[in-house]
Amino acid sequence: MTILSISRRVLRYRIARALVIIFAIWNLAEIHLIQHRIYEAEYTALRHRPQKQERVYIASINWNNELILRSHWSKALTQLILKLGRENVFISIYESGSYDNTKDALRELDRELERMRVPRNITLSPVTHEDELAAPAEGEGWIRTPDGGKQLRRVPYLARIRNLSLLPLQDLARQGITFDKILFLNDIVFTPNDVLKLLDTNGGEYAAACSLDFSKPPNYYDTFALRDSKGHESIMQTWPYFSSAESRHAMKKMSPVPVASCWNGMVAMPASPFIASSPLRFRGIPDSLAEYHLEGSECCLIHTDNPLTVDKGVYLNPLVRVGYSGATYTATHPMMNWLSVKRILQGLWVNRLRRLGITTWLKEAVVRRRIDSWRALGAGNEERGELCIINEMQILHKYGWAHV
Ligand SMILES: *[C@@H]1O[C@H](CO)[C@@H](O)[C@H](O)[C@H]1NC(C)=O
Ligand SMILES: *[C@@H]1O[C@H](CO)[C@@H](O)[C@H](O)[C@H]1NC(C)=O
Repeated sequence: MTILSISRRVLRYRIARALVIIFAIWNLAEIHLIQHRIYEAEYTALRHRPQKQERVYIASINWNNELILRSHWSKALTQLILKLGRENVFISIYESGSYDNTKDALRELDRELERMRVPRNITLSPVTHEDELAAPAEGEGWIRTPDGGKQLRRVPYLARIRNLSLLPLQDLARQGITFDKILFLNDIVFTPNDVLKLLDTNGGEYAAACSLDFSKPPNYYDTFALRDSKGHESIMQTWPYFSSAESRHAMKKMSPVPVASCWNGMVAMPASPFIASSPLRFRGIPDSLAEYHLEGSECCLIHTDNPLTVDKGVYLNPLVRVGYSGATYTATHPMMNWLSVKRILQGLWVNRLRRLGITTWLKEAVVRRRIDSWRALGAGNEERGELCIINEMQILHKYGWAHV
């Protein structure tokens, strides 16, 4: 071995070592910065109090969720009402056809709200999925199956139920009783402070503000309605979720994340579009489009239909995290339980690698082609909620729903 080749090897070794060290420092610095921002964001959110008390219409649809009602939800709701002031709220709950004792749990809540003298409309409907399926297959919301039968689509059904939870809002508006915001609450574990933080997202200025929801942490739950600022689905179910730079950067800063659509457990929206002369309502995509084996969430379409979305924006607030059980709530609180150093590092790199991939692009191309064929069939075939649509079909069945 010559002197020259030895010195070359030493040089190569030194360069490699320097690169490894630079790489390590870069990662550590990035993690440190992110952790710093996380602490800062949580701390400011804890101390911040909104200036004025808004009036809030709280809407919820309930089905087979007795357990969470009794263990967390009803209590959290009454505590929230105490914080907001009963004179500033209206509670609208629409339950339909539960097979467990959801109705009893809601009757108990109703008695408690009566005692607290909270204005409300709690509707307990006896109509079950089975009844819905037995009804004549007429009007919108049904889809042909290969065997020539008809199936009830899940999304238009849910849109109908959600719309029913908004009926009292309309009645109240006619009596001159109005609200600043609507808060849509899923069957989640939450605290009154979570709601206050959510309402105060971006200083209270938004077309919609959502929490993040967890059923199997660290994965978030509701992928059906979440789209990044460019309208793409999340590229991973763990932090930092997104491919678009705008959404990703905000998520790294823990500031309100601009997105095209979100729902994720808990959503606040200004009430004005819902009582406008042509009121904003939940809906599904047309049956004729769904026939192409496509579906879009009513909770996504509401944002693409909302006239406020363009100017005011939809935000996901990463400081507000809710769970579908006590254990999942605990697993994402405090912030460090949710985002450890390991998860931050892993998240950053998985996200970078996924962004190189083209699988989302291929998925979106399939959907776009089908929508284009549908559009070509008639001038009336328009759908502005294209970013909500995915290659899926969901139908209602007796005890729940299914993909077909
Ligand atoms: C939603 O509500 C509006 C107004 O109440 C109604 O006209 C519309 O048919 C509803 N949509 C669905 C899918 O039920
Ligand atoms: C409560 O809401 C339901 C629909 O959600 C409506 O049919 C009913 O009339 C309302 N009840 C009262 C007392 O306003």
